[in-house]
Amino acid sequence: MSDQIVRPVKIMDTTLRDAHQSLIATRMTTEEMLPIAAKMDQAGFYAMEVWGGATFDACLRFLKEDPWERLRKIRKEVKNTKLQMLFRGQNILGYRHYADDVVEYFVQKSIANGIDIIRIFDALNDMRNLETAVRASRKEGGHAQVAISYTLSEVHTLEYYIELAKRIEDMGAHSICIKDMAGLLVPYEAERLVKALKSYTNLPIQLHTHYTSGVASMTYLKAVEAGCDIIDTAMSPLAMGTSQPATEVLVETFKGTPYDTGINQEILSEITEYFRPMREEALASGLMNTKVLSVDINTLRYQVPGGMLSNLVSQLKGQNAEDKYYDVLKEIPRVRADFGYVPLVTPSSQIVGTQAVLNVLAGERYKMVSKESKDMVRGKYGSTPVPIKEEIVKKIIGDEKPITCRPADLLQPELKTLEKEMAMYKQQDEDILSYALFPQVAMDFFKYREAKEKKVDLAVADKKNKAYPV
Ligand code: CO
Repeated sequence: MSDQIVRPVKIMDTTLRDAHQSLIATRMTTEEMLPIAAKMDQAGFYAMEVWGGATFDACLRFLKEDPWERLRKIRKEVKNTKLQMLFRGQNILGYRHYADDVVEYFVQKSIANGIDIIRIFDALNDMRNLETAVRASRKEGGHAQVAISYTLSEVHTLEYYIELAKRIEDMGAHSICIKDMAGLLVPYEAERLVKALKSYTNLPIQLHTHYTSGVASMTYLKAVEAGCDIIDTAMSPLAMGTSQPATEVLVETFKGTPYDTGINQEILSEITEYFRPMREEALASGLMNTKVLSVDINTLRYQVPGGMLSNLVSQLKGQNAEDKYYDVLKEIPRVRADFGYVPLVTPSSQIVGTQAVLNVLAGERYKMVSKESKDMVRGKYGSTPVPIKEEIVKKIIGDEKPITCRPADLLQPELKTLEKEMAMYKQQDEDILSYALFPQVAMDFFKYREAKEKKVDLAVADKKNKAYPV
């Protein structure tokens, strides 16, 4: 219709972060990314999510790569498109709360190494856990996006989300993301939610979802019609299943409408060709498990995010208890209710998931309790959406008293101590942060890096000797 307002929807491509995290256990290497990065830069994406989330850990732990080096290399190839990272508030990219000085330094170094947009979220939606990261992003000239962890429960009403959006705007964030990590947001609910948020805030609204329950493309369609400004998609070889809807499909969907993305399908098709063999190889090797590819409408009942499903499969495989998969899936929502209806996203997804595995394998609930579960009950991750029931508190931490302040208020600055501990391995300032987040894993990596460099030096010397025979 000619009187319609033209409002192109922006596309944020997740192929180099969330897509491979969700489908192939975060195993895409920098070497696999670089040959196509410049081409992706030409496609016309609003942004590319390339860093953060579990990629940092996976780089150091499994791929023996320096994550900072990866970021710099991608930045070199992607000259025009904004680069985004996923940042877990006071957890940064790790699994505990860090002192403010570490959070601030991490934000500073992320932006200095090439990040434009920092998507900051807290698993519990405790906004106190985001304040330091938002403030630091603004200070460093970055775009601070706050993501609301979307979940379903009797306490997660429209009013609850509107209240959060207002607080996010007051906090000074540049945009809001509805982060639906498990694919729980159904199309008409998305319409309702986006409309509601749009009427209470002027900030751009971005929607992030996963294909797990099979509704994601329709959810995007209704959300965009309702005023959603940006949607997250992945290139088709690494799309759908527990990943995002396919970029090419959404681009085509909006073509010739007021929401036309303006993205070039020719370029997309070249990018698809590049990633297609990666999918085939991952399927052949079993790295991509068909279990996470098919639509599972039970997701709506269990509320388990994509990354967590693939982790769960491998966790149970390691215990020779793959047959307990569905028992664990059923136990997860019960543990979640016990823990005050926390949204299931890193790290709460791991905490609830692991506790559910323990409850099932032990044959008795809370007979075995992880340290992380105890800390959740102690309030060390922040306040849960509703208070945890007295009987659960008692069962898990006995007579101990949970804390009620912002957890990081109890933490002393720790950067200086951390630097001292790893000084002999430091090759760049960023190494302090790698060590801060994953002390043991980073240390192993530093040693590996040093040994490798020595080997290269020896090889070079050796070659030189051979090149100039006497
Ligand atoms: Co995600």
